[in-house]
Amino acid sequence: MHTDSPSTPSLTRPGPSRRFCVAPMMDWSDRHYRYFARLISRRALLYTEMVTTGAVIHGERSRFLGYNAEEQPLALQLGGSNPAELATCAALAEEAGFAEVNLNVGCPSDRVQNNMIGACLMAHPGLVAEGVRAMHQACSVPVTVKHRIGINGHDSYAQLCDFVGQVQEAGCDTFIVHARIAILEGLSPKENRDIPPLRYEVVQQLKRDFPQLEIIINGGLTDLEVMSEQLKTLDGVMVGREAYHNPYLLAEVDQRFYGDAHAAPDRLEVMAAMRPYIARHMARGGVMNHVTRHMLGLFQGLPGARHFRRQLSSAIHQTSDPLALYDQLLTDMSERQQAALLRAASIR
Ligand SMILES: Cc1cc2nc3c(=O)[nH]c(=O)nc-3n(C[C@H](O)[C@H](O)[C@H](O)COP(=O)(O)O)c2cc1C
Repeated sequence: MHTDSPSTPSLTRPGPSRRFCVAPMMDWSDRHYRYFARLISRRALLYTEMVTTGAVIHGERSRFLGYNAEEQPLALQLGGSNPAELATCAALAEEAGFAEVNLNVGCPSDRVQNNMIGACLMAHPGLVAEGVRAMHQACSVPVTVKHRIGINGHDSYAQLCDFVGQVQEAGCDTFIVHARIAILEGLSPKENRDIPPLRYEVVQQLKRDFPQLEIIINGGLTDLEVMSEQLKTLDGVMVGREAYHNPYLLAEVDQRFYGDAHAAPDRLEVMAAMRPYIARHMARGGVMNHVTRHMLGLFQGLPGARHFRRQLSSAIHQTSDPLALYDQLLTDMSERQQAALLRAASIR
């Protein structure tokens, strides 16, 4: 078994292990996805979607801070820049039981720029430091920052070091670095996740220059071997899109990155374990698709993957009994797997 031994940076507020993190993803990493992901990996640190300070303070608390206990360890990601509001939200996050509060300094959307939220804050390290200081004083869980390596017009390595230096002094030991700049005019958020080139070497350099900090690398990571390579010098990896589109990737995380002995459940077991969760959700008036839309990639790369995806993305809207469709799909996938095993055995 391949196991990477965790390095231990000396943190002033040790929290959950961040050796493998699943990224905050708006509309994707909601509580249903997180419950599903947690069935596959017990150890990965999960992040909520970004929640703005305004939503937490003025909105419906249970909607913005609610989660299933099974999702832990779980970090709340906040969007905001007003120190007093950030402090209020950090205290509420701790009260709600989150293992960490993370500040978003990476989102490039126009909507958030107008409110001084997200990546535009990279040009205001003093304000971010003030916010982090206020959060740090208001709660006793770790306060972390997720950011870019720069933004257009503000993308030198010296500026990045100034940002990290100021925020560190305010009480943040952990930096999750999306290894590309954000271009704040002219690119959509989606383009800003693909077009600016990845520069892992900048994150590596940051760790060399700030060895006492916990540095987590993010951006474009899809291959477990590449992640293991990064972990030789960095403290953690954060994976977004691959963990969503190919969720069974998480099945290797506990053994490979944490040295755990237990085996992950197989895909059919994951499907079966989701059944009572879906039934509970529906019994409370929820819609099945709100849960199962996050499961479409479960069989990616295997026989029947297309059938699985099609049943859960279109057939589900044409049936009056979606749970029966789910049960039938579980039977179908089990038969397909058995047939594939028999075929493989006969070829041998
Ligand atoms: C649909 C979607 C929504 C996202 N929402 C957030 C968010 O709320 N907060 C945040 O910090 N990053 C957000 N991101 C960025 C991811 O956290 C991550 O930094 C980015 O996707 C790069 O990692 P990856 O290449 O592993 O996906 C989002 C990404 C996607 C695909």
